[in-house]
Amino acid sequence: MDLSIIGTGHVGLVSGVCFADMGHRVVCIDNDKDKIQLLNAGKATIFEPGLPEMLAANRDRLTFSTDMADATASAEAIFVAVGTPARENGRSDLSYVTEAVSRLAPHLKAGQVVAMMSTVPVGTSRLVREIIDTNVPAGVDPKEVYVASNPEFLREGRAVYDRLHPTRIVVGVDDERAAEILKRAFDGLEAPFYVTNCPTAEITKYASNAFLATKISFINEIARLCELVGADVTEVSHYMGDDPRIGRQFLQAGLGYGGSCFPKDTKALDQIAFSQGHNFTLLKAVIDVNNMQRVRFVHKIASALGDDLKGKTIALLGISFKPDTDDVREAPSIEIISRLLDARARIRAYDPVAMPKVRGLFPTVTFCEDAYEAAAGSDVVAVITDWPEFKDLDMKRLTSVMAGRVLVDGRNIFDPKAVAASGLTYHGVGR
Ligand code: UGA
Repeated sequence: MDLSIIGTGHVGLVSGVCFADMGHRVVCIDNDKDKIQLLNAGKATIFEPGLPEMLAANRDRLTFSTDMADATASAEAIFVAVGTPARENGRSDLSYVTEAVSRLAPHLKAGQVVAMMSTVPVGTSRLVREIIDTNVPAGVDPKEVYVASNPEFLREGRAVYDRLHPTRIVVGVDDERAAEILKRAFDGLEAPFYVTNCPTAEITKYASNAFLATKISFINEIARLCELVGADVTEVSHYMGDDPRIGRQFLQAGLGYGGSCFPKDTKALDQIAFSQGHNFTLLKAVIDVNNMQRVRFVHKIASALGDDLKGKTIALLGISFKPDTDDVREAPSIEIISRLLDARARIRAYDPVAMPKVRGLFPTVTFCEDAYEAAAGSDVVAVITDWPEFKDLDMKRLTSVMAGRVLVDGRNIFDPKAVAASGLTYHGVGR
């Protein structure tokens, strides 16, 4: 079938390319001419494993355009996947959504479904409905144009896999005919297909992200306790996770969550609750714990150096908010670097892919070719992101190039005994 996607960011582009791979003809729209030009030249504009290959393999089923009229030319469903950044007060900025739908509406035809794929506050579908109702072309009955909510659950770095192997597909609809169209769009994927109303679909997305964030903050609080009583949180989470009611995933203590989703969505859900007169106490604590995790880490580095960072050289391993992505949005590294620089430390940093994203932000940081170069002459090596390549570092070689003898492991990737055996003092998170 024919589909279109508005917005070629992470969610939009991956979804468009995967829909094409599933056999659909897909039009991807973006108002950024440069992006569309690159995509038309066959270049993936985001870093996502597997995407360039899939883009190349499905070029004949993909069209990239800046013209909104192309979105509605033949598509049965139009997915809106534009950004919803957080405003100062934590609320979602819906201006990209309202702008995109306002430009789309005058081109809509009877029988088409407009599905919100962006993470949007409860009530947005009603707003989208209003924009469509007042802007559809003369002669089109607004009731014949459907509005749906189709939250996605893709992880960056695993987005292609997640898109093709979803754990569930949730669609909120205002008309059963929209559900039928969307069911055909996802035909062939082996996952439960749930049809509900729009607010339920919208809240499901926030609740899922907030719950995962809660698991992370919970284990980080347990990690704090472990440090105080001499326990090891990596073992605790392992033993807890054997209970299927708890599960192993998202119980890794460390520097807390970052990225473009959890920080934004937890704050947005708190604001949604507030706007409904509900004080979401638990979620506030989850956010506070996450913020504190970065501050505590800087204290940990400082206390390993006698509480004085001035003139000390810190080697930072990892900048992206998690492995397999160059995304640095809300990455713990940004705040940690800023705090270390404020304390007059010198920083040597290395990340396999994210360095170009932060070079301009931190002109005084020395960016290095690899972990050993970063460690050269450093007083402390600090692990910020759990890139797999760091786990295989040659500890003896690392130690030999350092000036000091301290390793602070923000992601608990190393075996403390192995690190100690190479002559370094080990500090993890919660162990
Ligand atoms: C997250 C969700 O996992 C996706 O399901 C969702 O679709 C997406 O947000 C979104 O809303 O678009 P993502 O932000 O790509 O995906 O990253 P995750 O893999 O979930 O990791 C988030 C953060 O939590 C990372 O900073 C990671 O380092 C941290 N984390 C994760 C931990 O600190 N501990 C853990 O045990 C797991």
